[in-house]
Amino acid sequence: MKIAIGSDHGGFILKNEIIKLLKQRGYEFRDFGCFTTEAVDYPDIGQAVGEAVVSGEYDRGIICCGTGIGISISANKVPGVRAALCGDCFSAKASREHNDANVLSLGERVTGVELAKMIVDIWLTTEFSGGRHGSRIEKIKAIETKYNKI
Ligand code: RB5
Repeated sequence: MKIAIGSDHGGFILKNEIIKLLKQRGYEFRDFGCFTTEAVDYPDIGQAVGEAVVSGEYDRGIICCGTGIGISISANKVPGVRAALCGDCFSAKASREHNDANVLSLGERVTGVELAKMIVDIWLTTEFSGGRHGSRIEKIKAIETKYNKI
């Protein structure tokens, strides 16, 4: 599985902890920035990671900012992205099983590092359930089509 990962300055420390985890687990990944603690704009990173996933070059995306909110809103503007902001393990599992989330968003200023790492592990190893959930994903896609985003 190839993972696109990125953060703004508010999620920089958490992103680096998650990168360590990805290395330990043997995942292939690319870091889309930022690369220092200097302030950057979270929409730029959310867009870059979202586009990397939707292009098919990467299977999943992980994004971090201070709250996880701004960067998830931004990534979700890329048609085809289903970014889920998760601060607990139940949501992480459900976001994969029910929503087929292809991007995970985390908030460094909200979620502790160890919990965030558990969330990442669960999120990366949980499959989409399909079935009745599949038709709901199709309805999400229909909304995108309605507004001519694809
Ligand atoms: C940056 O200060 C902060 O606004 C950003 O990381 C994020 O929390 C926005 O949603």
